[in-house]
Amino acid sequence: MFSKGRFLALSAIATTAVGAPVLNDKGLMQFALTIEHLEHAFYSDGLSKYSAQAFEQAGFSSWVYGRFQQIADNEAAHVAYLNNTLGSDAPAPCTYNFPHNDVKSFINMAQKIESISAGAYLGAARHINDTSILNAGVAIAGTESRQAGWITSSVLKQQPWDGAFETDIPPSPAYSLIQDFIVECPDSNPALPLATLPTLKISNPTPKAGDSITLTFEPGSSASPLYALWADGLKYTFTDVNNNQTTVPDELYNDCITCAHNPEECVQIVRRLPTINRRVVLFVISFLQLFLEEKIQSVTKMTAPNLALVMAPNLLRCNSESMLVVFTNAQYEQTFVHNLLLHLKCAEIDPDFVPTHGQGAISPRPATPSALRASKSRHHRPNY
Ligand SMILES: *[C@@H]1O[C@H](CO)[C@@H](O)[C@H](O)[C@H]1NC(C)=O
Ligand SMILES: *[C@@H]1O[C@H](CO)[C@@H](O)[C@H](O)[C@H]1NC(C)=O
Ligand SMILES: *[C@@H]1O[C@H](CO)[C@@H](O)[C@H](O)[C@H]1NC(C)=O
Repeated sequence: MFSKGRFLALSAIATTAVGAPVLNDKGLMQFALTIEHLEHAFYSDGLSKYSAQAFEQAGFSSWVYGRFQQIADNEAAHVAYLNNTLGSDAPAPCTYNFPHNDVKSFINMAQKIESISAGAYLGAARHINDTSILNAGVAIAGTESRQAGWITSSVLKQQPWDGAFETDIPPSPAYSLIQDFIVECPDSNPALPLATLPTLKISNPTPKAGDSITLTFEPGSSASPLYALWADGLKYTFTDVNNNQTTVPDELYNDCITCAHNPEECVQIVRRLPTINRRVVLFVISFLQLFLEEKIQSVTKMTAPNLALVMAPNLLRCNSESMLVVFTNAQYEQTFVHNLLLHLKCAEIDPDFVPTHGQGAISPRPATPSALRASKSRHHRPNY
């Protein structure tokens, strides 16, 4: 499922460590032109280095070369459009280094560059005010996505898309993914509204869900704890980074359904969650457990199964498109949450996190009779 994980992880870690730069429409167009200059140079360079014949010798049909020429033309048109729109504010091309050494590595690099640029346009979109600029950006992004899809499926014979939603890459992380290709830019170029992020290296660039990977980044960070942020479509997942290791996020949903009737296994799943997710679950469940007290139930009429019914959709989400699956799973989701309500010892799972409620950060003071009376008269009836 995290098919794009390999380069999304690259953009992950450092984003939280760096302050967000101020983005405006002009700066974002300058960023877009910087990407287009790079793409244009990439194709001009590659297609002059490798002939149609070299493509055929590498096992690709002659029309593949022709299509790459069309892509090169598209990139030239993007450059011309943005250069024209920006006028005297347009950045000039830089010098580049594209470390491919044969047709195959050129094509792999093209796929990577196209996917990053498609994601970068999407990541910039949310910051753009002027709808006509947004419209042009979306039009370019659509073409970059088609190009990425064509290279991925027709040329490399892989699945062309990554699920129903493209993943957007925010501007600074997107730039960090292509900056290795840039050797030097003219001093006269405008400064881009981007933060320089540490260079992140991943032990395995194409890990699978559940794999453990090692992350190193220069310059390092003294921040603690560290998290990796995984972007996949519209979904973001955090994982803990301990001793430079993190685990590629795995879907636990199916495990929750399978073990819903086994209380001990339900509790084990909570232990397996990444720290942030585990603590949120502990906080929420321990809060709900407060409502299981007999005297509260006698007022609310909310028994544990009732609470599970109401809360399950907030804790578990079924991704199936089949209504039959969604409805069938709903009762397992409730059973899972019911088991947590009855069996999760929230104060014991995570020694560094014991959830507290009601008092906030204030340490509980013994209630004096007068304080008790005051609080009773203020809250004499629950407000449901
Ligand atoms: C959008 O407009 C707001 C208010 O005018 C401004 O503060 C912000 O910088 C603008 N953003 C862009 C991307 O131009
Ligand atoms: C960008 O536009 C300027 C005119 O504003 C022109 O001189 C320059 O050659 C153009 N650059 C590219 C790469 O198209
Ligand atoms: C862990 O990452 C930091 C930051 O990149 C690096 O300085 C350190 O050498 C790494 N340690 C290991 C064991 O890879």
